[in-house]
Amino acid sequence: MIFAANFKCNLPQKAVADYFSKWNTFRFCQSFLSQNQILFFPSFLGLQTAKELSSFEQIGAQNAYPVKNGAFTGEIGLEALESMGIDMVLIGHSERRVLLKESQEICAMKFDFFAKHHFKIVYCVGESLEVREQGREATQEFLLSQFRGIDTQYQNLIIAYEPIWAIGTGVSAKAKDIECVHSFLSTLSPQPILYGGSVNKDNAKEILAIDHVSGLLVGSASLDPQHFYTITQSIP
Ligand code: 13P
Repeated sequence: MIFAANFKCNLPQKAVADYFSKWNTFRFCQSFLSQNQILFFPSFLGLQTAKELSSFEQIGAQNAYPVKNGAFTGEIGLEALESMGIDMVLIGHSERRVLLKESQEICAMKFDFFAKHHFKIVYCVGESLEVREQGREATQEFLLSQFRGIDTQYQNLIIAYEPIWAIGTGVSAKAKDIECVHSFLSTLSPQPILYGGSVNKDNAKEILAIDHVSGLLVGSASLDPQHFYTITQSIP
């Protein structure tokens, strides 16, 4: 299983240091470590600290601009990430697509650039409530459009299905809806598919038991190290 924590715009540098000082007191047995992965996506300000304080965990950026460096005010490029030893990036999160108006073309540009640099890419897709209410076919069509320009066979790809209506609402998607979408997505790509959207310690086990679910992408519940650790211990 893959357990990914997305801190979003939370936990600045000092808070990430405090987080890892608690996190590093938790013990994972060798068999857990050989079969599972734990990924953290801190904010830019926490990247360096997370990288320094983590051991087996992988640290990635929540976003990056598809350039080495240059005149791109407010952005972080390849050179900055490489200088910290970061080789993993999250692309296509709905908060970037919706709030920051990131188009499919931009997502595809980012994907292409970071795939060429062999990054591990967690690529997010997910429909709005409006699309979901139009039925299964419309939902699948919408999700398909979010793969336009994306190499779904890319070796270092992890897909994350995050229905927008389940993010931060405290109400995760129902098991049968997750199963239906994940089984559709598994026809598009052989790579692992994570579920994200109001995952917590109480529903993690049930979600991990669903067919074609290879792990979880956790937002709010990952901000507390004890809570996120409990989620990692929920493999059915
Ligand atoms: P929540 O777990 O807070 O719903 O957020 C999910 C998410 O967007 C992770 O990327």
